[in-house]
Amino acid sequence: MDQHAIAQCVATVVGTRRSVRAFKPTPLDRAVVEQILEEASTAPSGANIQPWRVYVVTGAIKDELADILVTAFRAGSAPAPAHFPDPLPDGFRTRLMDFGARYYASLGIDRNDTPARMRQTEKNFSFFGAPVGLIISIDRRLKPHSWIDIGLFAQNLMIAAKARGIDTCPQVAFAQFHDQIASYLHMPDEEITAFGISMGYGDAEAPVNQTRMPRQPVQDFTRMLGFPAV
Ligand SMILES: Cc1cc2nc3c(=O)[nH]c(=O)nc-3n(C[C@H](O)[C@H](O)[C@H](O)COP(=O)(O)O)c2cc1C
Repeated sequence: MDQHAIAQCVATVVGTRRSVRAFKPTPLDRAVVEQILEEASTAPSGANIQPWRVYVVTGAIKDELADILVTAFRAGSAPAPAHFPDPLPDGFRTRLMDFGARYYASLGIDRNDTPARMRQTEKNFSFFGAPVGLIISIDRRLKPHSWIDIGLFAQNLMIAAKARGIDTCPQVAFAQFHDQIASYLHMPDEEITAFGISMGYGDAEAPVNQTRMPRQPVQDFTRMLGFPAV
C-alpha cells in the first residue's frame, strides 16, 4: 500500500470511530478481541512501563457484573461522579452543555426529564447491550503522566476495533463503581478502575447512534509558530 493509501485508510478509520451506545448482540470471537488488545498494546508509554491492565468480560460474567453495577446505580450507592471539577471552567462547560443537548435530543429525552436521563445513564452499566465489556485499570500509585498512557492504549484499541467494523464506547462512568468492580474482578489493592469500554457491532439504526459530536476547528485549539505566513 502506498503512503497516500495508508494515510487515507488511517483517516477513514479514525474519522469514522464514534462512541456507540446501542449494540447488536452478535458475540465477538476471543481471537479477535485478543488481536485488538495486541494492537492496542503497541501504544507508546512513558519509559515503556505499559501501565494498562485490562479485564475483558462477556457472556454470563459480563451480565453478572452489569447486574451488580445496575443495582448499585439504582441504590445511589456511588459517590457523586467527580470526573470534572465543579464548577467546570466556562469554555468546557459550554461544550459539555452542547454534548448533553445533542445526546438527549437524539434520544428524544427532555433535558429536564431527570428519570429518563437516569434510565439512559444506567445503560452505561450494562455496557449499552454490547457483547463484550472491558474494564481498564491502572496502579493507583502512578502519577497523572501514566494515565496518558492508558488513554493512548484505549484509543489504539478503539481504532483497531473500528478497523474491523467493531464499535466501542469509552466510559468513565465505571470509575464511580470501582469498589464493586474491584471486588467482583478480584483486583489487587493497588489497582484502580480508570474507565470501561463497551465493544461490539453497533446498531446503526438506533437513534442514539445517529449523533455526531462536533469538534473545534484546528485554529481554535492550536497556535502555529515559525511557519511561513499563509
Ligand atoms: C475518557 C472518556 C470517558 C467517557 N465516558 C463516557 C461515559 O461514561 N459514558 C458515555 O456514554 N460516553 C462517555 N464518553 C464518550 C464521550 O461522550 C464521547 O467521546 C464524546 O462525546 C465525543 O463523541 P465521539 O466519541 O462519538 O466522537 C467518554 C469518552 C472518553 C474519552
